[in-house]
Amino acid sequence: MNFNIEILYNLKDIKYNIFIGFCCGIISSYIVSYIPILYTDIIKILIKNDTTKDDNNILQNYIYMYLLYKYSSNIFAAIRGYIFTICCFLINIKIKKKVIESLFNKDLNYYANNKNSEIIDIVANDSAKYADLYTLIINIFFRNISHFFIITYILYNKSYKLYILCLIFSLIQFSIAHYYNIYFYDNSVNATNEIINKFNNLITDYVNKIETYRSLGLECNTYNKLNNYCNILNNLKNKEGYYYGISLFIRNCIDGSVICLLIICGLKLNISNKIIYEFTIYVYEFIHIFNELINIKKDITCKKKSINKINDLISYDKIDLWGNFMYSNIFNFIPNIKIKNVSFAYTENNNILTNFNLDILPYEIIGIGGKSGSGKSTMLKLLLGLYNCDNGSILIDNIPIKNFDKNYFYNNIISYVGQEPVLFDTNIDDNIIIDNDNYDIELFNYIKSLIEDINITNNNINLSGGEKQRIAICRAFMKKTKILLLDEPTSALDEDNEKKVLELINDLHKKYKITIIIVSHKKSTLNICNKIVKIN
Ligand SMILES: Nc1ncnc2c1ncn2[C@@H]1O[C@H](COP(=O)(O)OP(=O)(O)OP(=O)(O)O)[C@@H](O)[C@H]1O
Ligand SMILES: [Mg+2]
Repeated sequence: MNFNIEILYNLKDIKYNIFIGFCCGIISSYIVSYIPILYTDIIKILIKNDTTKDDNNILQNYIYMYLLYKYSSNIFAAIRGYIFTICCFLINIKIKKKVIESLFNKDLNYYANNKNSEIIDIVANDSAKYADLYTLIINIFFRNISHFFIITYILYNKSYKLYILCLIFSLIQFSIAHYYNIYFYDNSVNATNEIINKFNNLITDYVNKIETYRSLGLECNTYNKLNNYCNILNNLKNKEGYYYGISLFIRNCIDGSVICLLIICGLKLNISNKIIYEFTIYVYEFIHIFNELINIKKDITCKKKSINKINDLISYDKIDLWGNFMYSNIFNFIPNIKIKNVSFAYTENNNILTNFNLDILPYEIIGIGGKSGSGKSTMLKLLLGLYNCDNGSILIDNIPIKNFDKNYFYNNIISYVGQEPVLFDTNIDDNIIIDNDNYDIELFNYIKSLIEDINITNNNINLSGGEKQRIAICRAFMKKTKILLLDEPTSALDEDNEKKVLELINDLHKKYKITIIIVSHKKSTLNICNKIVKIN
């Protein structure tokens, strides 16, 4: 398991909090370590048959001391708990931010290769688990280790022989419980989590594609699948409970056996009864420490997947990062496009484009045709920088696209209407005007002619395919970028609306001097282009 150094380094602003929490934990452990000795002294006087007045005075003092130790150790424990709760939250937020930053820079291949629900899970749950582990290790692990050494110091000075036996007995118990957990309990938990994931993925898919599931009559089938997962989960949980029960039995039986063994060994070694009694109390402390360590191990096993997911995400290759040279605010920008020897495959050995070349002159309207599945949309996505080419390069104004500043590129240089336009859950105007503070009202009023028949007051965006397409086109025009990519912009439109869109494209092309690429199967749409290229 690897913790990400970059994230650890980012903790420097809360390092003092962590340090204070850490110290409080150790002080509290130190004080707690001496409580069994006081307790033994109290018991020793209590079980005496004839106590004198002196005994009672001593007892009173012991009780005051006992209370002092108890209260002071718990005050430190409370401060420790408070600090680590806050630290855990702060670390969680830091990891979330780092994860979001990485997600924002990811190539779309990452999104294609990972399920949406899993990506959302990384932000929502895995980062919290990752943060838990930091505090778990700093807090619980070191506290227990220091507790262990303090007890060792106390016991070793009382009888090193009994101490070694005490340690061996506790270690035997630790090993039995530990390996039992690895071979039975953990496997069972992993299997359960796997089924829970499958269950969640299926229900997410159903909700996302409700119309398809319903219209294909897949609900009965889906219900059966979910039911089947529930049955499997039921069996797995049964098994898990069974293993848990056995582990409780083993642990408790060994606890008792260890105490008896310790007493027998202590008597054989001629050690005083008081010291033997102290050892029987301290052995529980050892067992407690080892159990906490087992729990940490178990927790790490459960959270390992989260750590690996986050590490994979953060250390994912840097090539998808933008802006080696950060070109922005280019004076005299010329929207010419050069696609040079570009090859691209979504999956290995399945090239969609091979050594593809295309030169697009500035201010041209170029049409792209070709068979379904030939790679037209893919080419637009490469031009948009959504995917990285495997080979070759794409230059705009003779600059490799990833050398532009990312914000500048998407806000000023290129805009895009996808083949399946997606609108945001807000009203139509807000879908078109992305930057409310800074937009061209005149242009807005002009392009709205394209959607004047759509009910503008309608706040919910359940519109028809053609309506969505027209709104997406307006949105792209509003950005006033120098290059416009349109993927099947008229596929869902009637003749009238197609005509309107094409007129608008022609007008804006003349007025703003832009380079336009239109992918279309429609001859009527491609008619407005200066040149038509076919992709095979
Ligand atoms: N995200 C993806 N992952 C894997 N393969 C993909 C992905 N997107 C598209 N493909 C594949 O790439 C090929 C080209 O797809 P693309 O969408 O570019 O075709 P197209 O020319 O736009 O087709 P159409 O005219 O039907 O829109 C297709 O065979 C498709 O199956
Ligand atoms: Mg396409």
